[in-house]
Amino acid sequence: MYFSHLECSVPCGAGPFNARETHHLCPACAMPLLARYDLEAARAWSKDSLRDRVSSMWRYAEMMPIFPGDMVVTLGEGFTPLFHAPRLGAELGLSRLYVKDESLNPTNSFKARGQSAAVTRAKALGAKTLSVPSAGNAADAMAAYAASAGIPAHVFMPKDVKTPFITEAKLYGAEVTLVDGLITDAGRIAAERGKALGWYDVSTLKEPYRVEGKKTMAYELAEQLGWEYPDWIIYPTGGGTGMVGMWKAFEELEAIGWMPAGAKRPKMVTVQADGCAPIVKALAENAERAPMWEGAKTIADGLRVPKAVGDFLVLRAIRESGGTAIAVTDAEMVTGMRDLGRFEGISAAPEGGAAVQCIRNLIADGSIKKDDRVVLFNTGGALKYLEVVS
Ligand SMILES: Cc1ncc(COP(=O)(O)O)c(C=O)c1O
Ligand SMILES: [Zn+2]
Repeated sequence: MYFSHLECSVPCGAGPFNARETHHLCPACAMPLLARYDLEAARAWSKDSLRDRVSSMWRYAEMMPIFPGDMVVTLGEGFTPLFHAPRLGAELGLSRLYVKDESLNPTNSFKARGQSAAVTRAKALGAKTLSVPSAGNAADAMAAYAASAGIPAHVFMPKDVKTPFITEAKLYGAEVTLVDGLITDAGRIAAERGKALGWYDVSTLKEPYRVEGKKTMAYELAEQLGWEYPDWIIYPTGGGTGMVGMWKAFEELEAIGWMPAGAKRPKMVTVQADGCAPIVKALAENAERAPMWEGAKTIADGLRVPKAVGDFLVLRAIRESGGTAIAVTDAEMVTGMRDLGRFEGISAAPEGGAAVQCIRNLIADGSIKKDDRVVLFNTGGALKYLEVVS
């Protein structure tokens, strides 16, 4: 195992920080901390070892935030299928369209990965109570992993979140608080309430380990494509951990020699809702940070994130990869959900549907060519969002 320490993501010069102690944001600059590994030593780790490994994201345990003796809190998350999607590909005019189907994770979304890693680490650090603000999916995932770890959980969601998100969090025994506002308001209230009570806050990028779970999507992608990168990754982005995690993974894969140094990385594309598109706006305005989006509104609960603490890291990944950011309408998301359903039999959340429209736009403007290898991330399933299609 090569997990070694924590480092400021800016980096601001403070640290390194001891990963055997509890840390949230960088104490010097209040920006996210990232987990770091002994990459030199990790070069001794061979890909061949994966052959007999568990079919979950923990197959990459050596590059995960655990120390010898830690108990992993797992429900079988990750190692989701990467489907070739020939029928949807033909509809769009692509020969090499793939869908990474994250709806098949526990609790129906890719959020399971982040929470498996975060709750594993929280348990190892002795956390007594967990709390999380969420747009929906992260709350259900945290509730499930907290239950599995035997740690009480408090989740805070906007009060107009779709009912199944609330029902499922309660099913796992979490204490659910509904907030008059958005995820940012939920975050403020959760932090205020938890401070006095010593709750361990699992907010996106405010603790360093959800990113580590999400990064495994890129490890899997490389492995499933025979240790090659695709040309494009289309990713529905809210808080940004998925984008940040995958970009970090590419750095690690190259540093440990699993991918050639200088390999042409995928272009990272963020897709957002036109009713909440802070990253799209910041990229267009050439800004380093994305200001708060006022009046955020969309049927894609996971994309209703008006301000993200890791916005600069998402923007960095997009720019360094030569990618872009695109906003789509709610109606286009529903069309995309139906397309993934009727052409491929895949159950897609509006977030996944948004990625279909994003691809259409990038083909139309000549960016994506017909033989490019394109990976669409279906970050969640349709079932919790059925009200938008029925
Ligand atoms: C289905 C779905 N897709 C995408 C996202 C956005 O993910 P991230 O916050 O990692 O950008 C979310 C977040 O809640 C989500 O639930
Ligand atoms: Zn810092």
